[in-house]
Amino acid sequence: MKKILLIISSLFLMASCINSQNSKKVKFNGPVYLDNNANIEDRVEDALSKMTLQEKIDLIHAQSKFSTPGVPRLGIPEIWCSDGPHGIRAQVYWDEWDQAGWTNDSCTAFPALTCLAATWNEDMSSLYGKSIGEEARYREKTVLLGPGVNIYRTPLNGRNFEYMGEDPYLSSTMVVPYIEGVQSNHVAACVKHFALNNQEEYRSETNVTVSDRALYEIYLPAFKAAVQKANVWAIMGSYNKYKNQFNCQNKYLLKDILRDEWNFDGAVISDWGGVHDTKQAAEHGLDLEFGTWTNGLTWSKSNAYDNYYLGQPYLKAIKKGELSVKDLEQKVKNDLRLIFRTTMSANRPYGSFNTPEHSAAGREIADEGIVLLKNENNTLPVDVKKYKNILIVGENATRSLCIGGGSSSLKVKYEISPLEGIKNMLRDMASHNSDFKDVKISYEKGYQHTKLLKSDNTIESKKSLDSRSALKLKNAAVEAAKKADYIIYIGGLNKDLNQDSEGQDRLTYDMPDGQNELISALSKVNKNLAVIILSGNGVAMPWVSDVPAIVEGWYGGSEAGNAIADVLFGKVNPSGKLPFTMPVKLEDNSAFALGDYPGDGENVDYKEGIFVGYRYADKYKVKPLFCFGHGLSYTTFKYGDIKLSSETLSEGDKMKVTIPITNIGSRQGKEVVQLYISDLECSVPRPVKELKGFVKLDLQPQETKIAEFEIDKSALSFFDANKHAWVVEPGKFEILIGSSSRDIRSKASFLEK
Ligand code: GLC
Repeated sequence: MKKILLIISSLFLMASCINSQNSKKVKFNGPVYLDNNANIEDRVEDALSKMTLQEKIDLIHAQSKFSTPGVPRLGIPEIWCSDGPHGIRAQVYWDEWDQAGWTNDSCTAFPALTCLAATWNEDMSSLYGKSIGEEARYREKTVLLGPGVNIYRTPLNGRNFEYMGEDPYLSSTMVVPYIEGVQSNHVAACVKHFALNNQEEYRSETNVTVSDRALYEIYLPAFKAAVQKANVWAIMGSYNKYKNQFNCQNKYLLKDILRDEWNFDGAVISDWGGVHDTKQAAEHGLDLEFGTWTNGLTWSKSNAYDNYYLGQPYLKAIKKGELSVKDLEQKVKNDLRLIFRTTMSANRPYGSFNTPEHSAAGREIADEGIVLLKNENNTLPVDVKKYKNILIVGENATRSLCIGGGSSSLKVKYEISPLEGIKNMLRDMASHNSDFKDVKISYEKGYQHTKLLKSDNTIESKKSLDSRSALKLKNAAVEAAKKADYIIYIGGLNKDLNQDSEGQDRLTYDMPDGQNELISALSKVNKNLAVIILSGNGVAMPWVSDVPAIVEGWYGGSEAGNAIADVLFGKVNPSGKLPFTMPVKLEDNSAFALGDYPGDGENVDYKEGIFVGYRYADKYKVKPLFCFGHGLSYTTFKYGDIKLSSETLSEGDKMKVTIPITNIGSRQGKEVVQLYISDLECSVPRPVKELKGFVKLDLQPQETKIAEFEIDKSALSFFDANKHAWVVEPGKFEILIGSSSRDIRSKASFLEK
């Protein structure tokens, strides 16, 4: 007994002295820059004061494919960057793009950002950022090279799947929580590609001509929100030019706008190989040069990292007095600030990798992003009481869609294909729901895309392809469809070149590999047909009137197949809305109808100005295939009458807008209530309406909730290029509330004083 008492008392004694130590914060007596709790700007100045000129030069350009050296002598760590916006890229060799063959870098793939945008749910964006930030942290990355927020100007842009759609308000709203979530892990997000990188064709050299009004109203807002609302710690310059300067060394973008107008205090990172001139890079605000000669030493010494534009050539110019040390030291301060916010921050979290929570997050985001485009005769969800023999058709039911697409390609821990997801669903449901008991699934490939990629981005050998001809594949599917009760077609695009991929744009608005003909043939032999498009872009649908149910399933990441099954079999009621317009044909897209695409390689002219997406379709009365903000549900929502808190809106005022929404159906559902504003009297051409608010409500059957919005004058303004300012002209405005940009349920007008 005595012994026990002795142990307890000594434990108590230990605990109390630890406690007393904690209560007396141990005074850090090392150099300020090493004090994680000191003021960051003091740390920056202190570290800068201790660095040599050579160390300052070394800090601002790459030492390897994805890292810079830091300042080893001072114990300041390397900066490590990693792609990409949807998951943490596999480790590559020091100097190569090739994967290094690590066995512990297979990640969780989250849905593509078009899918995140399609959730119209900021909570999903926050969950996304937190989760991907945890994976980046765990993999010891300083900077996550994402999110991308370039505007969806044409349906042919190969990288639209990495971005958040056509509308500046939607992408400005959805980008903020993602960045905050990433940075909560003390990992820097790097919003990209700044700016006007809206096509892959000629991306490395084309100059973009665009009006100031379109630049400020359409193409900059998401970047501005990233800087001013999310306080993003890094931004990536894009390859293309604006005002005939490459954007990684562009005075107008990186100094006049980013620093002088927006007060950005983070680091500007070049795209890989985006720097072309020492003087411009030195004087126009670039802070970190990557990828100029992306293989470092293997080609020749002249391509060594030290010879980068911000390497020896910069040092020589400084020593000759041709370039100022002041500019150099500004770069160093921005890079040090990045390091002190991340790898040298206090209480840095530890991150996590491939956790069940990340899988659940990926599935939830995919569930919320899937868009039900059409659903006649309640074709969906699949009624397994009636349909027992279900045929799945299409290569995308089994093809990996996490692999490929360029720098966002991922080596994943696992990827549930739609076929697997549907089988999982039926097996799980059958265990407690007799309706699912004797459902049979069969599969026909139906079509085949001739190139398959392996997880290391190399190409699968031909032997893994189906040896049958396209015609035989199609006929086999059609014959099987004649005997089946129900057909689920899963096709769309993929991550091969000229599909949804970096580096090249699509060559056609059609899906590849004869899919349109196959879908038409299936619709002729079986009316119980649901077509699921997996893509990051809109596609032509010549068969649209022959198919009763159509779903945009996006690229859902590791949990894609489970999410598709969740929606198809009704476990989840779809609530996604399109983040971009799907035109019937390319000519109905404004870049084709009014603008210039892809340009002549030297220049591309955004002649359509602000009339992008639904702004064009409304103004020029072009009926889209499916409109911006469109998305159906398995239930029905009734909109009540809009109420405004006042009849007028004056300077400094805020107006409350409310509208009751009721779920009048028989099952739970979520509805994205959208608020658009129309300027009925204006001296300049304006869109018929512009998105200025949205609220996503979760409603039980027969439940009513009030959708609440608050607007101020900024929601009424347009960018006046002559004044270089946002202005509001007094007069009559209208507020339109709807379930999509073309399904307006309630309106009210007011006067702006
Ligand atoms: C690529 C992409 C960029 C990516 C970088 C590193 O060219 O444009 O998005 O982060 O290089 O892979």
